[in-house]
Amino acid sequence: MLIFKTINETREFLCSQKGKSLGFVPTMGALHQGHLDLVRKARQENELVAVSIFVNPIQFNNPEDLEKYPRMPELDANMLRSVGCDVLFMPDVSEMYPQPESTVYDFGPIEKVMEGAARPGHFNGVGIVVRKLFEIIEPQKAYFGEKDFQQLAVIRELVRKLSLSVQIVGCDTVREPDGLAMSSRNMRLTDNERAVAPKIYQALQTYARHKETLTPSSMKNSIVKELHNEPLFRIDYIEIADDTYLQPVSRWADASGALVFAAVFLGNVRLIDNVRIF
Ligand code: PAJ
Repeated sequence: MLIFKTINETREFLCSQKGKSLGFVPTMGALHQGHLDLVRKARQENELVAVSIFVNPIQFNNPEDLEKYPRMPELDANMLRSVGCDVLFMPDVSEMYPQPESTVYDFGPIEKVMEGAARPGHFNGVGIVVRKLFEIIEPQKAYFGEKDFQQLAVIRELVRKLSLSVQIVGCDTVREPDGLAMSSRNMRLTDNERAVAPKIYQALQTYARHKETLTPSSMKNSIVKELHNEPLFRIDYIEIADDTYLQPVSRWADASGALVFAAVFLGNVRLIDNVRIF
């Protein structure tokens, strides 16, 4: 596996490989099996696989979250070698942002709800970095997890809006054996918080099965009630939204597909998850 820190060396190498199909997985590091699943999928579908590790400061709206974001480049590199990654791009902040960024994207209704509403500027920061990474790597395919379903929808919108030629591939959420969605933030949970964290997925999964007997609002209320039983949880939002524009669903018949989304604080760690209803 080749490791590059600069845009120029990355471009130069990838240029020398022109003609090979290239799959790309952007990440912020502190890798786990969820990330590695994306890399494995990219490995199966492409001749060359590139991964980026870059903790993107402009997508963090909480300075403490940025500061505490786990960084473990050597471990990450070893994990990537073990799944057959060819190129690891690990720029520092000045390489990616020699000047402050001023681009403002309009992703429409998708960015006005849930993560977009709770984290102002977050998706703009994601859009800026992902577009830059696509311009540096120029992949044919790029892989994103459904764990961050709204991010995936924003990236699809970015690609559509800017007519980019990359194909976006969505991948299933990888979970711990107890159901907790894998996340780099899980390692910041205390033992007590970690012990109760799987209750988020359990509640979503339990009620997502009851579409025939519950309205969207009663499903949402039941989940909120269930999560309120756990004193370590502080609910940021529970939403039932359609699978395309992520807008709230008030009647099942109004959507062709819907998911239930959760954002929950445990201490100062904020976890998100989602489960498809139909
Ligand atoms: P990061 O949180 O490191 O996630 C990188 C990719 O891994 C994203 O596509 C995310 O959805 C996926 N992922 C994370 N946990 C997963 C899980 N449990 N199962 C499946 N996939 C999972 O998302 C980002 O970084 C950044 O916003 C980024 C796109 C790199 C832009 O900075």
